[in-house]
Amino acid sequence: MADEKKNNKTETKEKIFIGVDFGTSKIAITTNDGKSVVEQNVVGYPKDPISSKFLKKEVLYGNEALKHRVALNIFRPIENGILKTNKDDISAAKGLLEHCINSIKLPKDAQTYAILGVPAEASVLSKKILTEISKDFFTGVMVASDPFCVAYELGLLENVMIVDIGAGTTDLCRVRGTLPEPEDMMSFPKAGDTIDNALIKSITSDYTNAVVTKEMAKRWKEEFGFVGEPAKDCVVEVPVDSSTLELSITQELKTACESIIPAIVEGITKLISTYDPDFREELRKNIFISGGGSLIRNIDAVIEEELAIVGGGKVTVIKEDPFTAGSKGALKLAIDMPDDYWGKLV
Ligand SMILES: Nc1ncnc2c1ncn2[C@@H]1O[C@H](COP(=O)(O)OP(=O)(O)OP(=O)(O)O)[C@@H](O)[C@H]1O
Ligand SMILES: [Mg+2]
Repeated sequence: MADEKKNNKTETKEKIFIGVDFGTSKIAITTNDGKSVVEQNVVGYPKDPISSKFLKKEVLYGNEALKHRVALNIFRPIENGILKTNKDDISAAKGLLEHCINSIKLPKDAQTYAILGVPAEASVLSKKILTEISKDFFTGVMVASDPFCVAYELGLLENVMIVDIGAGTTDLCRVRGTLPEPEDMMSFPKAGDTIDNALIKSITSDYTNAVVTKEMAKRWKEEFGFVGEPAKDCVVEVPVDSSTLELSITQELKTACESIIPAIVEGITKLISTYDPDFREELRKNIFISGGGSLIRNIDAVIEEELAIVGGGKVTVIKEDPFTAGSKGALKLAIDMPDDYWGKLV
């Protein structure tokens, strides 16, 4: 009798479904009651009592942490798409997740079911730690492959390939109407961060005494990033010694952005060549690019040109917001997931 009462009470609780994309550069959360948040995946702790007093906080998250980064010890808990496994990074990641959840104010007492998008080839350990971290905040948690979540959001579920170019990794996933198997997925650390690092290296070797930070390189790439033919000259202000110089970085940017193309083309080709021969041609025509890297100008055309040499392909950049397509797909998947799947790993 008591149990029956308890069950009835549980059943009347509101159910909230949540999609989480725990990316290298950002965390994006979307809920079925219309809430969302996108925050930079950065956590900062004041370096000393002075900075702590000045900032009036013991910990800062996301953009706020980046803004005050010189006074902070900065943690970026995800590297190359994978959660770092030391205690401090795990605790930073958990704090950031809690901060984001608090910011969207989930209804108290609701039952919350979340799907976490993770890189296509995330290790068992990485999935386990992320699941453990999240268990404190949600009633039920599962993980799913990030690019599959994107496909689910787009409703592209048969003979489709998603190429998700993020910050830490590019993730590829073949979708064939079911949940993907390991052989349908591929992930490699050639993505936005690779471009930023290549850009820093080439500018500082062309112009000795130039100082280029990771944030500058990222900003310039996001403003001008392109592959193939430039649309305009990319002129930026580069700090050199104690002043700044206006420099054209068009060639350096082109080379840096193009540095990730060969691995992407190789990955696409491999996933096509190992697909069921009857459906390879259809798969070839359905290649979709998502993630922040999809905003690199011309990326679809240049990948298509490269594929033309090895059998051809039709490449399309997704029209949806590339930063939230993964979390929205994870949400959709959470809503559609049968009750008895909760608690199992996908
Ligand atoms: N306009 C732009 N042009 C080129 N690159 C961009 C642009 N805007 C953002 N990016 C880059 O996209 C990357 C972030 O993309 P995204 O949010 O998809 O990554 P993530 O999900 O955090 O990372 P990952 O999937 O690797 O874990 C960063 O490297 C960022 O600099
Ligand atoms: Mg991502």
